Amino acid sequence: MEIFLYVLLLILVHQPAVVADRHQSGVCRDNREEFGYALVGHDFRTVHADNFGRCFFECTLEERCQSVTYHWNGKECKMKKETKKSRPEDFVENPAATYMENNFRGGWTLIGRFVMKDQNSMEDESNTSDSYRTILPNYNSNKQYLLRNGFKQLKDDMGFTQIRFYCFKKKPGRVFHIMANKNTKGANVVKFFTESETMPTVCGSFTRLPDDNSSLAANCDKWGYMDYNRWDINLP
Ligand SMILES: *[C@@H]1O[C@H](CO)[C@@H](O)[C@H](O)[C@H]1NC(C)=O
Ligand SMILES: *[C@@H]1O[C@H](CO)[C@@H](O)[C@H](O)[C@H]1NC(C)=O
Repeated sequence: MEIFLYVLLLILVHQPAVVADRHQSGVCRDNREEFGYALVGHDFRTVHADNFGRCFFECTLEERCQSVTYHWNGKECKMKKETKKSRPEDFVENPAATYMENNFRGGWTLIGRFVMKDQNSMEDESNTSDSYRTILPNYNSNKQYLLRNGFKQLKDDMGFTQIRFYCFKKKPGRVFHIMANKNTKGANVVKFFTESETMPTVCGSFTRLPDDNSSLAANCDKWGYMDYNRWDINLP
């Protein structure tokens, strides 16, 4: 039996600048890499980066970096003051480039991704770290985890307020997609991931997002291993 579990863990960085945008769309846009595209010009700096993840990470550290275009052949990371929205005329197809916008200072940021090919792949070698500076640049890795202290560090530095989870399981083909609420129960979930060992209550702690059709999210009262209705380290 083939299991394919795709887990994305995202955090919401709270910034007043994006509140209006969030209101209109209901949920935050996900920033994704776009293979085969480049924004031409508008660079303020070019740095060498061994991979795309490193390039994107460099951009997230810069206040003025709005987007990056990574040129795979020369391993060149071009940091831009503009985006494809502000300069649509300069957004072009380029098979050797990848474009991505930086919304690290507001909106959702990808902090973890894990792909399980079968039931045993949990036991495969993976990297764990207490430092988000080690984990975040390996953006493309499917086998790494940020540990609790790393989440804490990230929260202290970036001040995120919410966590979102996305998983897809090939069999039975369902999407699990939830967001921790902006209430006390949701705050306890953030606390669980950042500093506290106390397993928070599940029911009422999250909102199901529009594409969620999982039975996991529909049965909050059945979560937990030793105790029901608890966020457990084994979940989601
Ligand atoms: C763990 O990290 C090291 C150094 O960054 C890397 O070379 C290795 O491929 C990583 N292992 C996994 C399983 O991701
Ligand atoms: C759940 O949603 C996904 C994505 O929208 C869809 O591909 C899948 O068929 C749905 N699964 C079920 C069991 O309805």
